[in-house]
Amino acid sequence: MTQTILTGDRPTGSLHIGHYVGSLQNRVALQKEYDQYIMIADIQALTDNFKNPEKVRNNVMEVMLDYLACGLDKSTIFLQSQIPEIAELTMLYMNLVTVARLERNPTVKSEIQQKNFEGIPAGFLCYPVNQAADITIFLADKVPVGEDQLPMIEQTNEIVRKFNRIYKTDFLKECEAILSENKRLVGLDGKNKMSKSLGNTIFLKDSDEDIIRKVKMCYTDPNHVYVNDPGEVEGNVVFTYLDIFNDDKDENDSLKRRYRAGGLGDMMIKGRLSEVMIDFIRPLRERRNYYANNMDEVRRILKDGTEKARQKARENFAEVRRVVGLFY
Ligand code: TRP
Repeated sequence: MTQTILTGDRPTGSLHIGHYVGSLQNRVALQKEYDQYIMIADIQALTDNFKNPEKVRNNVMEVMLDYLACGLDKSTIFLQSQIPEIAELTMLYMNLVTVARLERNPTVKSEIQQKNFEGIPAGFLCYPVNQAADITIFLADKVPVGEDQLPMIEQTNEIVRKFNRIYKTDFLKECEAILSENKRLVGLDGKNKMSKSLGNTIFLKDSDEDIIRKVKMCYTDPNHVYVNDPGEVEGNVVFTYLDIFNDDKDENDSLKRRYRAGGLGDMMIKGRLSEVMIDFIRPLRERRNYYANNMDEVRRILKDGTEKARQKARENFAEVRRVVGLFY
């Protein structure tokens, strides 16, 4: 039997190369072996963007285009808000989680610190419960995520065990995280992870000109002032990206050797990185343009995916209703 994967993203902005190496690339490979569901988590996005519903709404199609640009055409892509059973299941799960447990979730904790809410919205504190419903309503076996999402998987499995015990069933399944091998991609500034809000990103839809301009901003070695100075490769963003995006390992090694020795200028290595990034982005941007010019097709893909996901959610939620006794 083919195993099921469930994963998703909050639609709060265009996707960038950090998303690509962290998850999108994995998903393109996984969709060949698994029954893969990819959720555009608009309801979860509202938990910290409830004052900006138009931002969430506008980014649904942006994320959809980015997915298709990457080649996610064998996955079931769907929209969270259009599956009311997820919200119903969330409500049942709320009873199985204590407030203290929610307050201990390390990812939520650090997000709360970053966001300086006026008061913590209950919806935000509870989003891991909603995420547990996302995952389990599809009886997902595997959830490909970044490290920051491991606490969500842990909480999901706690809920699954408690649900099965209390309602005397084995219907719900525990899930397993698939951690991507790649660590978080560092941003152009070399200091922070790549993130739209920090303005240190290369978007999957960037033009050649955008790429050239951004690569020029890359953090290199601040002590490498003159071409002939020896340069540091460690922590040098140009080399970090070359290692990831340039398949010619011999070339990378030789560039590093020459940079370390002195005599290779930042202009040179940035010029080479620009070419590499342009070659990487171009096919994605072309596919994206195709879909952007055929939005009816894009809307149909999302509609079909959502219908398929809803069907599965309905079937599984019927069993939940049965074991909890919610049938009249
Ligand atoms: N919390 C995830 C993020 O911020 C997005 C998400 C929502 C998700 N539901 C999910 C991820 C279910 C995996 C499974 O990136």
